[in-house]
Amino acid sequence: MKNTNLPSDNIAYSNIIERTSIRKFTDQNINDTFCEAILHAAMSAPSGVNLQPWEFVVIRTPEFLKELGEALPYSASVTNAPIAILVCANRRRFLEGDDSTLWVQDVSAASENILLAAHALGLGAVWTCIYPHPDREDAVRRILPLSDDFIPFSLIPIGYPAATHAPINKWHPERVHNV
Ligand SMILES: Cc1cc2nc3c(=O)[nH]c(=O)nc-3n(C[C@H](O)[C@H](O)[C@H](O)COP(=O)(O)O)c2cc1C
Repeated sequence: MKNTNLPSDNIAYSNIIERTSIRKFTDQNINDTFCEAILHAAMSAPSGVNLQPWEFVVIRTPEFLKELGEALPYSASVTNAPIAILVCANRRRFLEGDDSTLWVQDVSAASENILLAAHALGLGAVWTCIYPHPDREDAVRRILPLSDDFIPFSLIPIGYPAATHAPINKWHPERVHNV
């Protein structure tokens, strides 16, 4: 069932509803202003105790993109992207005790902001999964020079979409529970 009561005239709201994962890109490069705008959006995410435990590795080297796409089957889309952002967590900025895994939520929020910012700028992107797979982390470490303090979390190829598709309808009112 589609929700027809959306504030579709609100650009920020529509951007959330209409974002889709994009895995095929044209050859067009992304200018530095757009790249910085996307990173700024990523760093605007909320984080536990505002610790901002994230680091962002911007991958533009074609050899790195190709090697990553070949080594990581679930990230094959990186191969045809002009850039990819590796979202990492810096273990030097982790909380302790019960909050020691809060960083996962923090870097997830940053990853989602990257997807939304890319879509807002007319670009396409997809969240591809590195953490919590040790084999994927190892592959990333073999290919990229990465500090031991950084935990690679998500690898997000970004570019101009080679094809677009309608958003998946995920509105399930039965999953809303009013108490
Ligand atoms: C935690 C997470 C892990 C994901 N891992 C991958 C992945 O490894 N490779 C991939 O191509 N897409 C991956 N995706 C994208 C999902 O497949 C996609 O979001 C989902 O199919 C819904 O499609 P949509 O983003 O177009 O709404 C991942 C998304 C999330 C949030």
